[in-house]
Amino acid sequence: MNRILITGATGNIGTEVVHYLSELGNESELIVAVRNVERAKIKFSYLSNLSYRLFDFEKQDSFDAAFKDVDILFLLRPPHISEVDKYFQPLLQSGKNNGIKKVVFLSVQGAEKSKVIPHNKIERLIKSIGFKYIFVRPSYFMQNLTTTLLPELQKNQTITLPSGQAKFNWIDVKNIGEVSAVLIKSFDKYQNKAYDITGLENKNFQEVTELMSEIIGTKFNFKSINPISFYFKKKKSGVKSEFAFVMTMLHFLPRFQKEPDISDNFDRITGKKPTTLKAFINRKKEVIKTPQLCI
Ligand SMILES: NC(=O)c1ccc[n+]([C@@H]2O[C@H](COP(=O)([O-])OP(=O)(O)OC[C@H]3O[C@@H](n4cnc5c(N)ncnc54)[C@H](OP(=O)(O)O)[C@@H]3O)[C@@H](O)[C@H]2O)c1
Repeated sequence: MNRILITGATGNIGTEVVHYLSELGNESELIVAVRNVERAKIKFSYLSNLSYRLFDFEKQDSFDAAFKDVDILFLLRPPHISEVDKYFQPLLQSGKNNGIKKVVFLSVQGAEKSKVIPHNKIERLIKSIGFKYIFVRPSYFMQNLTTTLLPELQKNQTITLPSGQAKFNWIDVKNIGEVSAVLIKSFDKYQNKAYDITGLENKNFQEVTELMSEIIGTKFNFKSINPISFYFKKKKSGVKSEFAFVMTMLHFLPRFQKEPDISDNFDRITGKKPTTLKAFINRKKEVIKTPQLCI
């Protein structure tokens, strides 16, 4: 029996990975690696097939016990953790020392092109330590509309970003969870490769707010601002410097890059079509227009 350890399990991606792995059947043991076991047990109380281990990315002394007798590690980088040498080097070394052989890493589309982003460094580290690996490289999450961008959407019906006319490729986190579950389950078939996971649409934020207005029946606006103002606006709103910087770059740099490539990996691996933006907005319209509703 394969033992699969899932980090970031309570977040956007991890929740879907746990959900789809559970759906795929029970010949593997699914272990949820979290810093608060009681909270995770409540979140996943509808699933009876999970076990739980205490694990904290920021506490090295939690690694060995969490990684014992694990076959496949699903690794995710929490957005606030960017220092690869400080956090991921000891984590992956502990994984190796404890006998983990296979790692599925949730990376990002284009990670191979930018040596400075943490995902690129983590991918290289996974290879250099000698793991068998699968890199899942998704494009821009549709769920950004219902998480980081949501407060401003609900309050002012506006999205303010330094992204100008840049086009983003939009992917549903559910699709990422589903494809990751298949890749984990059939690891040997897909191993030692990277997979871009994208939706079928490249759209800029002007186009997305227009689509939202049409579907929801409320006028939504997009405002492009310069990156420096955006960075300080985020910091003033309580976002930590490092995360504000990543958010700024993530939305500003695509202005100087070519449009994202559209991949058919999701279709090839799952046999399904990815969610369209129209379907996603329809699914989430109550959340987007109603203050205080959680996703
Ligand atoms: N947003 C995008 O458009 C996009 C696109 C491509 C790739 N990505 C990548 O996706 C990743 C983020 O995924 P996500 O949206 O699923 O993240 P998320 O929703 O913020 O979830 C983060 C997860 O990490 C856990 N976590 C945080 N700190 C921890 C710690 N010290 N120890 C143990 N667990 C900890 C959280 O658990 P708690 O419940 O304990 O907080 C949560 O389960 C990032 O690497 C990002 O670069 C994002």
